Amino acid sequence: MTKITAAITAVGGYVPETKLTNFDLEKMVDTNDEWIRSRTGISERRILKEPGKGSSDMAVPAIEEILRKKGLDPKEIDCIICATVTPDMIFPATANIIADKIGATNAWGYDMSAACSGFLFALSTGAMYIESGRYKKVIVVGVDKMSAIIDYTDRTTCIIFGDGAGAVLLEPSTDGLGIQDTIMKSDGSGRHYLHIKAGGSLKPATAETVAAREHFAYQEGQAVFKFAVKGMADVSAELLERNNLTGDDIAWLVPHQANLRIIDATANRMGLAKEKVMINIQKYGNTTAATLPLCLWDWEKQLNKGDKIVLAAFGGGFTWGATLLTWAY
Ligand code: UT7
Repeated sequence: MTKITAAITAVGGYVPETKLTNFDLEKMVDTNDEWIRSRTGISERRILKEPGKGSSDMAVPAIEEILRKKGLDPKEIDCIICATVTPDMIFPATANIIADKIGATNAWGYDMSAACSGFLFALSTGAMYIESGRYKKVIVVGVDKMSAIIDYTDRTTCIIFGDGAGAVLLEPSTDGLGIQDTIMKSDGSGRHYLHIKAGGSLKPATAETVAAREHFAYQEGQAVFKFAVKGMADVSAELLERNNLTGDDIAWLVPHQANLRIIDATANRMGLAKEKVMINIQKYGNTTAATLPLCLWDWEKQLNKGDKIVLAAFGGGFTWGATLLTWAY
């Protein structure tokens, strides 16, 4: 029997129009453009400002772009996996809301919560549904409205994050194109360094938790930074080694956009030239689950069939991993 692999056959993306620049942030907290750019590489990020809009409102246009490009009827979609830590509601899953909004009436789906590694984990999961032969069209969307959980009085977190969505369509390939290998890891002991304290079953929302600003993302930046540099670089190097590849074989590195210094460390460890690294952190900041597909979206026209691409991520959990794929179009 011919082996089925899962290929990305289209990409879509969406970022809100409103820009929040470093100069805007200078007026909100004690920071400055020079510090933010030199410590993170970020100049501006996008913010979904309109009241009454949530993550699904960014995921929908990203997926609709795919439907348009491929001339697909939404009823043809089998499954939607939505990677997010900022779902529209705690339940039902944002994937279900997205399916309803785009008219994907034959799709089932669910949300995946793996923070900044969410898209990578969801991509690998979606690929398995394709590889099994059971499904033909799986949408994987990474979306986060980080502005909903960011404390804009906390200068250590508010400078990093932005809002956005990116999506891919996975379809079967019988030519060996698409996802080749993935390494995924997690370590829950890292939860202390990056989390939201209240609003879950452990500490439900009360007037006190709101007053204590415990519904915003809490991050010990330096600790996360150390784990991220090591985690993302190690896993990317391990992926190359076990596939007998070197940096020379790789056309593109698609790294999670958390901090330019973490990206540089990963590229160096893989022996990759800077020109092969996708970097758009300067204009979107860290959009959590959306960073990887937003890179593919921005670079889509420069990708060629057969390109070997490594996607790598590190995030809250801790969660981290890397995927090797062969571009299919
Ligand atoms: O995507 C999910 C995973 N997250 C990440 O990968 C993020 C990883 N962490 C980071 O990217 C970095 O740790 C940050 C960008 C969050 C912070 O950069 P840093 O180089 O680790 O700064 P720091 O926390 O060590 O702070 C250095 C100094 C401190 O001042 P003192 O104590 O040296 O006087 C901070 O108070 O910079 C100060 N500082 C700021 N100064 C101006 C912290 N935030 C700011 C700010 N503007 N926004």
